[in-house]
Amino acid sequence: MELKNLNITIAGGTGFLGQVLIEYFKTRVKHIYVLSRNFRPNSKKVTYLIWDGKNQGDWTRALASSDVLINLAGKSVDCRYTPANKKAIIDSRVESTKALGLAMHNCETPPSVWVNASTGTIYEHSESTPMDEEHGRLGNTFSEEVAKKWERAFFDFYRREVRQVAVRIAIVLGKKGGALQPIKAISKLGFGGQQGNGNQQISWMHEEDFARAIGFIITHPEQEGIFNLAAPLPIRNRHFMQNLRAILKVPLGINLPRPLLELGARLIKTETELILKSRYVQPKRLLNAGFKHKFTSPELALKDLLS
Ligand SMILES: NC(=O)c1ccc[n+]([C@@H]2O[C@H](COP(=O)([O-])OP(=O)(O)OC[C@H]3O[C@@H](n4cnc5c(N)ncnc54)[C@H](OP(=O)(O)O)[C@@H]3O)[C@@H](O)[C@H]2O)c1
Repeated sequence: MELKNLNITIAGGTGFLGQVLIEYFKTRVKHIYVLSRNFRPNSKKVTYLIWDGKNQGDWTRALASSDVLINLAGKSVDCRYTPANKKAIIDSRVESTKALGLAMHNCETPPSVWVNASTGTIYEHSESTPMDEEHGRLGNTFSEEVAKKWERAFFDFYRREVRQVAVRIAIVLGKKGGALQPIKAISKLGFGGQQGNGNQQISWMHEEDFARAIGFIITHPEQEGIFNLAAPLPIRNRHFMQNLRAILKVPLGINLPRPLLELGARLIKTETELILKSRYVQPKRLLNAGFKHKFTSPELALKDLLS
């Protein structure tokens, strides 16, 4: 399977990771279709189709013309976990995955590969035990349950001719979006010390390696099932923040203890779990399959992204 011959549909492709994939794939594949709830102007290589993430519609014709389906749709988890937000976080993932499954089922010649987003957050909090695809322990908190429901909806779909890969994505570090931007902003203000006790592991991946890994999975027809997408090694929050301060050349790094973070999270309407949970995601299957990361140290990744 050569990328240059492929048409790709990306559901939820207007967000941070979708834009990373579009930038990477637009010079490498034949055409990209993006499913979005909002109108966007098309370009030479990218066609936008409207969907609502729930119901069948005209958008399903993108699948009939595509070789690959990538699903990234889901309400951002960067919000307070109120009952309404919790329901929207779950529904936006489960319903969109089911809608795609039905469309794939009804499609005469569906894409031969379906890559569905999941998250490295599916594993329980771990500071020292690496969580790989085979032995990693799945947790039972709200966000861990979301990931389990999401993957269940995905693997409920089965069609012999469709290869399915669920990607448990670590925190992707990027130039224009994602978790790095707010951390960079507070660091520049002098608050780039450790968060909480600073021992929590950050499983991360450079945006280019994320896109390369998706390309690797697409072009390796023998690979299916669950894949962790992360750099080979995580880094403790304390050391990540030290690296970031050094690269930003900000000597002052005030620590943010848990109570202060709890207060701040309430004010900016988010949850501390996003920065305090320790994620030790090991990309064992990706490494065993022969994928070579370009960015293996956070220092290299941050220098590249912030220079
Ligand atoms: N970024 C990371 O580091 C990371 C790490 C692990 C997992 N993930 C997961 O990977 C996926 C993509 O991440 P991202 O950072 O690109 O997220 P994002 O920037 O929030 O983009 C997600 C996209 O989903 C669509 N969406 C939102 N609510 C929806 C709904 N109710 N129904 C249907 N579509 C909806 C939106 O597209 P429209 O508004 O155009 O419809 C949006 O552009 C997410 O599901 C996220 O949980 C991300």
